[in-house]
Amino acid sequence: MSTPRVLSGVQPTGSLHLGNWLGAIRNWVDLQQSHDTFFCVVDLHAVTVPHDPAQLAADTRSTAALYLACGIDPNQSTVFVQSQVSAHAELGWLLNCVTPLNWLERMIQFKEKALKQGDNVSVGLLDYPVLMAADILLYDADLVPVGEDQKQHLELARDIAQQRINSRFGSDEQPVLKVPKPMILKDGARVMSLTDGTAKMSKSDPNESSRINLLDPPELITKKIKRAKTDPQMGLEFDNSERPEADNLLGLYALLSGAGREAAASECAGMGWGKFKPLLAETVVEALRPVQERYQSIQADPAELDRVLAAGRDRAATVANTTLERVKASMGFLPGTARS
Ligand code: TYM
Repeated sequence: MSTPRVLSGVQPTGSLHLGNWLGAIRNWVDLQQSHDTFFCVVDLHAVTVPHDPAQLAADTRSTAALYLACGIDPNQSTVFVQSQVSAHAELGWLLNCVTPLNWLERMIQFKEKALKQGDNVSVGLLDYPVLMAADILLYDADLVPVGEDQKQHLELARDIAQQRINSRFGSDEQPVLKVPKPMILKDGARVMSLTDGTAKMSKSDPNESSRINLLDPPELITKKIKRAKTDPQMGLEFDNSERPEADNLLGLYALLSGAGREAAASECAGMGWGKFKPLLAETVVEALRPVQERYQSIQADPAELDRVLAAGRDRAATVANTTLERVKASMGFLPGTARS
């Protein structure tokens, strides 16, 4: 049996934060040993909202550098930039033509983002989950490690593959596309905002204090945690729906200290916020220190990052173009157009 495949990605919009790390990238690192892993910087997704060209270029490089700094090893994984593999856009188009509009209109993330943007919503923002399906399906991915907020998009990718491609253009014996499974770990799948324990930590929150970015300097991390929303009760605890901030911050401590939920809960059960917050701040700073150090040295050698991304692009394109040809052939397109 062949090694199972994994594909995932992060948008290069602004800085990556603790949610991206704990919900996604951290889990990617563990999968490298046992799976054939593909990790892309999904820059085509980043232009679904208004963007600045120079910033996009810088964020694309810095996101790739952060993948490596977090422990993605280019000798084990294929690391690449989505827009450099044109098969993503091409399969995206083919999938567009078989995806019902109302499947997209019910996507929660679209509704939330569209609401924020008023009249300026692009077609791309609505269409984005189809491109995400193409990202995944091109690699015949078995597993897609993501945070909780991507679950609905993963279900859409499965439905497109199964109901719109395989059942129309393939057969049970010879499906055209592999139907992927989401991998959402309980711990870290939903890291919440520091300023509102009921809202997820997000790059698009206009309040910088709501998130801890992976590249925030130690003083800033400490300041953000000091200011984080609390409640009047003494002692930290999990699973009290009246205390979402306690649940979130204790969850961060449990994960980043390595103590785990049970040990962290008993250690902090009698602790006041005044004692807990400096402990959490120190834990976050220490957990991010090696990531930040590696990031600096990766950014100091741009030629090496270029080499990694060029090798990743070539490997990704070979796999992606093979799938694209298979899909096109199944749909009746003449062969021989894709290049690797
Ligand atoms: P993006 O860029 O918003 O987020 C990247 C990853 O981080 C996870 N995440 C979180 N996890 C826990 N708590 C949070 N507060 C939090 N915020 C974000 C996300 O679930 C995601 O796993 N559409 C995707 C990018 C994408 C993709 C793909 C992912 C495009 N193509 C193919 C997987 C496979 C997105 O916007 O993620």
